[in-house]
Amino acid sequence: AELDLLGISDGMHRDVEKILITEEEIRMRLDVLAQKVLIDFADEEIVVVILLKGALVFAADMCRRLPVPMTVECLNVASYHGDIKSSGKVEFLDAKLPEVGGKKVLVLDDILDTGLTMRAVIDRLGELGAREVRGCVLLNKLKVRDVECEADYKAFDIEDEFVIGYGLDYRGRFRNLPYVGVMKSEVIE
Ligand code: XMP
Repeated sequence: AELDLLGISDGMHRDVEKILITEEEIRMRLDVLAQKVLIDFADEEIVVVILLKGALVFAADMCRRLPVPMTVECLNVASYHGDIKSSGKVEFLDAKLPEVGGKKVLVLDDILDTGLTMRAVIDRLGELGAREVRGCVLLNKLKVRDVECEADYKAFDIEDEFVIGYGLDYRGRFRNLPYVGVMKSEVIE
């Protein structure tokens, strides 16, 4: 009923139980987050590493808020395999990893959950010779991590529940929702 009032009960929206973070809230929060990042990365060429596919939407919005010289790389990692529970290990799927030797790196991911993904990526980029690696996430799940890992920058803290939208998917769907929300339980297979 709440969604009907917003006029978004159609199409992909009909599978949404509730909206956690609106488009407007994301926009306003990213403006502030980008300023924090800029303080640490001012006037220096940086490498932005986007973790596919979940961080794509977040990264598109963040990059455009960071007016510093940058190159953009994508990393294809898998830990969730499109389901709602983490598999517990992180795989690097690219044949060739980005060249980050001597560089300052900003890793962008959609969500910090168990911490496995961000931990593995930061460690690997360090092994590849990055001078400094910082992590930035849209969502920070408030929970005990499986490995020691916190993001240097985070837009929103959320409860430990499965979320979709703004890049986050369930079995590949819902990445194009402009907000972050929770699915109706009947959608879960
Ligand atoms: P870890 O556990 O490695 O998780 O910190 C990071 C990756 O797991 C995925 N993930 C989710 N994807 N809704 C999603 O659509 C969720 O609630 C969720 N929690 C974790 C995500 O791909 C992230 O990069």
